[in-house]
Amino acid sequence: MRLDFPDPPLHGSTFTLRPFRHADFGAAVAFGEDPDTARWVPPLPADDPAGVVTEFEQYRADGDMLHLVIADLADDRYLGEVMLVMGDHLVGEVGCGVVADVRGQGVATEALGLLIRWCLTDLGLGRVQALVAQENRPGLDLATRLGLMPEGVLRSYWGDGVERVDVVMHSILRGEVGRGV
Ligand SMILES: CC(C)(COP(=O)(O)OP(=O)(O)OC[C@H]1O[C@@H](n2cnc3c(N)ncnc32)[C@H](O)[C@@H]1OP(=O)(O)O)[C@@H](O)C(=O)NCCC(=O)NCCS
Repeated sequence: MRLDFPDPPLHGSTFTLRPFRHADFGAAVAFGEDPDTARWVPPLPADDPAGVVTEFEQYRADGDMLHLVIADLADDRYLGEVMLVMGDHLVGEVGCGVVADVRGQGVATEALGLLIRWCLTDLGLGRVQALVAQENRPGLDLATRLGLMPEGVLRSYWGDGVERVDVVMHSILRGEVGRGV
């Protein structure tokens, strides 16, 4: 089933969460090439702006994934992204990243918190989970700030044949909205 955009759109104190646009492409490529980011963020789904817009729209139409850009309220600048990947049993998995020059200001906490709250209330999910590599300190801190509960370590869960990393499973349940997010 198709995933609809939040209606009304989700706004933070300095940003809005909106669909990816052609103009975001350059900043999104640079974000993906940032060495602090590249290991933990999925690559863009296409090599050109129109392709990225089309792919994200297709994922949404198929009900597989909702991708939203964190865009500056003042000038619409790309600040990062949040995403929701749908699983079975009304479980969603979320992810988030913000560009280097807006880190340390609470943007990621606010943006991912908005998405998680929307998932557990408007969308009606029963559980939202977030997987964070055990060595990704900023990611673990983000999960903690949002009140997500660490549930355990998935050993050697991400990687390829050469390098593999342990990942911490976190979750928040429908009845826990208000605890952190
Ligand atoms: C993970 C990531 C999003 C965290 O970014 P971040 O800047 O640390 O997170 P926030 O934008 O929420 O900022 C939090 C910081 O701002 C501070 N802050 C200031 N005002 C704040 C507010 N109103 N609310 C929350 N935090 C605030 C916090 O104290 C914290 O500072 P600290 O790191 O010194 O403790 C970022 O490192 C990133 O994009 N990494 C690459 C992608 C990734 O690893 N994603 C994780 C998987 S989900």
